Amino acid sequence: METTQLREELRRISDEILKPGDFHDQLAPAITDYVALLSKIVKINNDDELNRKHVQSEMGQAIGTFWAAQCVREVLRTQRFVRSLYLAIKEKLNQKSGPVRVMYAGTGPFAALALPVMMHFSPAEVQFTLLEINEQTYNLLHEVLDAFDLNPFVSKCEIADATVYQVDNSNIDIVISETMNRALIKEPQVAIMLNFARQLPLDTIFIPEEINVGLSTQHKSGTEPKLIKHLMEFNTSLRQKLVDDTIGFNWEFDEVIVESDIEKGEQFYLSTEIKVYKDNFLGFNDCSLNILERIKTDKLDPKKLKFRYVLKETPGFIVY
Ligand SMILES: C[S@@+](CC[C@H](N)C(=O)[O-])C[C@H]1O[C@@H](n2cnc3c(N)ncnc32)[C@H](O)[C@@H]1O
Repeated sequence: METTQLREELRRISDEILKPGDFHDQLAPAITDYVALLSKIVKINNDDELNRKHVQSEMGQAIGTFWAAQCVREVLRTQRFVRSLYLAIKEKLNQKSGPVRVMYAGTGPFAALALPVMMHFSPAEVQFTLLEINEQTYNLLHEVLDAFDLNPFVSKCEIADATVYQVDNSNIDIVISETMNRALIKEPQVAIMLNFARQLPLDTIFIPEEINVGLSTQHKSGTEPKLIKHLMEFNTSLRQKLVDDTIGFNWEFDEVIVESDIEKGEQFYLSTEIKVYKDNFLGFNDCSLNILERIKTDKLDPKKLKFRYVLKETPGFIVY
């Protein structure tokens, strides 16, 4: 397919993704078409060891190329993130002259959250810095940008660890990253957001805006969980508090004590809700990021549980 045809198809898909409303008839087909369009440009062989290899950073695991390429298929995740980015750029454009500057940390092989948005602005309106830690993934990203002729939107594209990346200019308006797993386990989302919060002004928009992890129970499989207590509301004020309290990258989170009248034997879960931006939410079972995470408490007194989020090679909540 020629560049003009690729772009026309991407534009059509992006129109469907950006339509208002939580769901509409053409949304899932548009995401299927998006996946098909991207796979016309790059083929990611599942059997190739290089495509399956995760990259370990000090504050979380970066999933391998094949897995990162699968993320775009999650219909509501992709829709809510793309719409959020579009909305945030619109808002920033109203406030400033010159291009809105977006830091996209953890692009995957397609920069899938940015491509549809690029179809609605000019390079004079928006400029991206693209960061990806996985070299194999990064190489494919270049093929995608070349195929759609989208390099004029990219001011920088680097292989880098976004948990420690130093910006050379604090004029970034928006940070977008989807480097998370359910309950903020394993992947480095929190460390990445904190690294940019420590370097950028307070009016920088962070996408997602807020991630809430709570302790929950569930009475019947598949039913809405019952929240017992929020364990972490990762939003601007928590990010700022951590930035103010921390020297370097030594992020430390408060202990949360949960006292309840729950009897021994009850199964506890960590539940995840995401405010991607403004009225774009992802709640229970909307996508893989909102699946409940089972936790082991059988050796503990359920009436008094203590939790703490820890940022290390495998981030997550410890319970004791
Ligand atoms: C969950 S995938 C999402 C891909 C794409 N943004 C999307 O939404 O479809 C996360 C991507 O972030 C990259 N990544 C993870 N940790 C990173 C880090 N510390 N620095 C830069 N990139 C990272 C992974 O290699 C992977 O390609």
